[in-house]
Amino acid sequence: MSKTYKDLAGDGGSNIVGQVTEQLGRLRARMQRIKRKVAVVSGKGGVGKSAITVNLATAVAMEGATVGILDADLNGPSIAKMIGVRGQRPMITAEGVHPVQGPAGMRIMSMDLLLPRDDTPVTWQATTPTDAYVWRSSLEGTALREFLSDTVWGELDFLFLDLPPGTDRIATLADILPGLTGMVLVTIPSEVSHLVVRKSLALARGLRVPVLGLIENMAGYYCQHCQTVSELFRPGEGLRLAHDFGIRFLGEIPFDQRLARSGDSGIPFVAMHQETTIGRMFQMIARELSKVISLGQDGHTERGKR
Ligand SMILES: Nc1ncnc2c1ncn2[C@@H]1O[C@H](COP(=O)(O)OP(=O)(O)O)[C@@H](O)[C@H]1O
Ligand SMILES: [Mg+2]
Repeated sequence: MSKTYKDLAGDGGSNIVGQVTEQLGRLRARMQRIKRKVAVVSGKGGVGKSAITVNLATAVAMEGATVGILDADLNGPSIAKMIGVRGQRPMITAEGVHPVQGPAGMRIMSMDLLLPRDDTPVTWQATTPTDAYVWRSSLEGTALREFLSDTVWGELDFLFLDLPPGTDRIATLADILPGLTGMVLVTIPSEVSHLVVRKSLALARGLRVPVLGLIENMAGYYCQHCQTVSELFRPGEGLRLAHDFGIRFLGEIPFDQRLARSGDSGIPFVAMHQETTIGRMFQMIARELSKVISLGQDGHTERGKR
């Protein structure tokens, strides 16, 4: 068990340094067995980051890769529900916490699977907003580190991490996760969202976290009747944005009612509608991402680009 602040005060013989060192060693050993660790990031909530993470991960798994998803959005965990594993209980052994099985053989871990089922979000009490901010960040960091070091992922080709919205989360993750492959940015067609992309990129570059590319969600509206995407917004905005910022454009996903419904039903859209326009769009994004990463491993990505 880890120590709390109270345990430390006036602590006599506790070996806290030893505990932390041991946790870091465990974290490193676990992470070494995961070939690619991809953080999915957005500047704000509600842009479809979790929906994109679930479907992208499923598409990658359907290509034959061994895939894990970590729902690191501690305050709004939605992966378990979207992927239909809510209510399953992770097995806990001496080795650690075992992820539950999702579709396409995916291994899923979420705070949602460990918390009591009363839908109360994790909250932190503080007297001032600044305290709240500091506490939230450090507690989130601690929780994430524990989560990563205690989960028995085994060998994985890909681990996707659904991070809470907000650019500052990248800093926490970069700090915690040894060998983070890079991050994928999810945005929607609106000015605010794009301003945030600018901020995320600046931060990622400052931290030297490779930016694997940009996905534009809700780009236009998919009309099932006419089977085409109507461009309600400005067409090609995501592509242009990526170009302007010098990052890769991984692809776009239009708004489609069926995608929202599949999120509620717990069966990933791509698993159910593989042979649809949007199903294929997800598969293309998955292949593009794999390509970008293998190129990167030969030393040709955006790594370190400013
Ligand atoms: N392209 C899309 N078409 C239709 N609904 C979508 C699309 N992307 C996301 N959604 C829905 O929008 C809501 C918010 O998405 P979610 O993935 O939870 O956002 P975030 O994780 O960024 O907060 C969910 O109900 C989700 O199913
Ligand atoms: Mg989410």
